[in-house]
Amino acid sequence: MAEWSASLFKINNTCNAKGIDIIYEKKRDIIEDLSFFISIPFLKWYTIDIDGEFSSSDRPWSYGHYYEKRKGVDMSKVYEKLLKCYECYQEKIDFKPDVAVVLGSGLGNFAKVVDVKAELPYAEIEGFPVSTVPGHAGKFIFGYIGDVAVVLMQGRVHYYEGYPITDVVLPARLMKMMGAKILFLTNASGGIRPDFHAGALMLIKDHISCFAPNPLIGPNIDELGTRFPDMTHVYDEDLQQIIMSVAKENNIELFEGVYAQLTGPSFESPAEIRMLQTLGASAVGMSTVVEAIAANHMGMKICGVSCVSNLAAGMNSAPLTHEEVQEAANAVAPKFEKLLRESIIKFGALCN
Ligand code: HPA
Repeated sequence: MAEWSASLFKINNTCNAKGIDIIYEKKRDIIEDLSFFISIPFLKWYTIDIDGEFSSSDRPWSYGHYYEKRKGVDMSKVYEKLLKCYECYQEKIDFKPDVAVVLGSGLGNFAKVVDVKAELPYAEIEGFPVSTVPGHAGKFIFGYIGDVAVVLMQGRVHYYEGYPITDVVLPARLMKMMGAKILFLTNASGGIRPDFHAGALMLIKDHISCFAPNPLIGPNIDELGTRFPDMTHVYDEDLQQIIMSVAKENNIELFEGVYAQLTGPSFESPAEIRMLQTLGASAVGMSTVVEAIAANHMGMKICGVSCVSNLAAGMNSAPLTHEEVQEAANAVAPKFEKLLRESIIKFGALCN
């Protein structure tokens, strides 16, 4: 076993008034294949990885950069982390949900329609990825919508924030482990189909995943699902029927289409939108598909509705902004919330 050479790191940070010198001499087998974190209270987190590279971050959990360097993902660690998060949930929360909901942009106030029984901030779950996106403050909310036991994800993490893709899908996996059989995914998207308009709601019938990393890459976690999951019926037909019937009953215009996930964080170029149009995409966004893949792997019934917050790049002349996306999503929120609430109440019949 090669010795990891003695290293001297002079932590030279403007926040660090004392100018601390730290010497670390560690064997490679002690450091293993994980980053080594040094905590300096109120300052920064310093990371030394096995290649001896040194970096700093404001957040102790920002280690996505390190995973990106690895040749493969150690799935036993992924599973271990998931089990740890599950243990943490079990210790803190006495509530078993039937339906899991991921709240996308604009749905941050959806919790008000829930008879809330418990909350669990992501930051209180050891190892859980916490979003950095403004407006995506994160916590699980447990409670009832009608008679249906739900867990809401208020805030999700995105791949573009720098997390490994296995962290991005950890919450969906965790909600299945909590007991949820149904996963309702929501998001904001850019509309690609020419008949779409800002503020349209689109039922996700299918997806295009090939522009984002597949979360199942790496040795299969047999405890979660099979190596080669079928993807023919990711979006459950019965759930789709219910959502369409609720839309009709409530006079909510509901389009249907194919959602494509790209990584972001930059919006797409007009040429990319033309490409996606050619491929059959109806709307584009930066989330959802990887969560659907992981949940499908675990055998969840999945459905999704996207709020088309803007026309995609090049479809009108105005440049796109995150603020515009949020404003449009907020404006659609009342009818989106109605569709979500009434559909979830009807899903109750499928949960027994
Ligand atoms: N592109 C990608 N993601 C998005 C968009 C978009 O135009 N709008 C909202 N999320």
